[in-house]
Amino acid sequence: MLPTHRPRRNRKSPVIRDLVQETRLTSHDFIYPLFVIEGQNQAVEVASMPGIFRYSPDRLLPEIAECVELGIHAFAPFPGLGDHLKDPLARESANPDGLYLRTVAEIKRQFPDVAIMTDVAMDPYSSDGHDGVVNQETGEILNDASLEILGQMALAQARAGADIIGPSDMMDGRVAWIRDVLDRNAFQHVSIMSYTAKYASAFYGPFRDALASAPKRGDKKSYQMNPANRREALRELALDEAEGADMVMVKPALSYLDIIREVKNATTLPVTAYNVSGEYAMVKAAAQRGWIDGERTMLEVLLSIKRAGADAILTYFAKEAARVLRRE
Ligand code: PBG
Repeated sequence: MLPTHRPRRNRKSPVIRDLVQETRLTSHDFIYPLFVIEGQNQAVEVASMPGIFRYSPDRLLPEIAECVELGIHAFAPFPGLGDHLKDPLARESANPDGLYLRTVAEIKRQFPDVAIMTDVAMDPYSSDGHDGVVNQETGEILNDASLEILGQMALAQARAGADIIGPSDMMDGRVAWIRDVLDRNAFQHVSIMSYTAKYASAFYGPFRDALASAPKRGDKKSYQMNPANRREALRELALDEAEGADMVMVKPALSYLDIIREVKNATTLPVTAYNVSGEYAMVKAAAQRGWIDGERTMLEVLLSIKRAGADAILTYFAKEAARVLRRE
């Protein structure tokens, strides 16, 4: 007997395929991570991330203007600091005149309508390269001593004009702590996007190259999650919801599409995913060798993250993808 049901009828032409397409990417889905460094007229490409640059503030602003023009309206800047500004307590992180907070304030001054998500974690400012305070004798990462510093960092970022605070440190209780500090200082309107399920991943390598922020000793496994665990992501989700997170994130994205879906099914909060540096680097490296079609792979990667359940995607592909989407 010939088949009664023929799914191919829904694939027979571009118009029909478009009509039944379930997931669609737009430039509104993207949050673009940016690297900012000290200096003037600097645009230094990250060796392991072709097409991604560390910009001095004067070069970052025109870059943002270009992105806005392409339809990207949300940005997540990260600072690359010289070693002389790093110490065990990440003091530079709350300096309103420092590189990061000055730049955030300047972005908001020139582009009041964009959304800026700032990063809360000690690593870019820490001489130990960890996200929390290190006990110098034992190497232990001290949770509660870190909260104090992370709270002050978040407050300084709110003062600089951050729209969204993004705690990426994975200390216990930091969402509630930061919410409390913000509210007590009249920053009730500032949002928190929690890095809810952030795994101890090898895919962060190129990011740590970009910021020279790798841990000086040890690894991040006592605070970032074990890649083997799925239910633990739901435990972190429940805590972040109870602590007052406005949005939750899964990171990395590609090896964790199941976690994105799991989190999406378990929450009514917006879910975001971080398509991290190593995921970007893999696509670029293979494309440069001519082993894959870089553009099609990029779009498939981003589509898969959205299909898995991400409402928004932090991605280094944002600008390139926005260009392609505008053309289509
Ligand atoms: C650190 C931080 C990391 C990333 C974002 N914030 C690295 C890490 O946890 O070691 C990684 C992002 C990427 O790889 O693109 N708080």
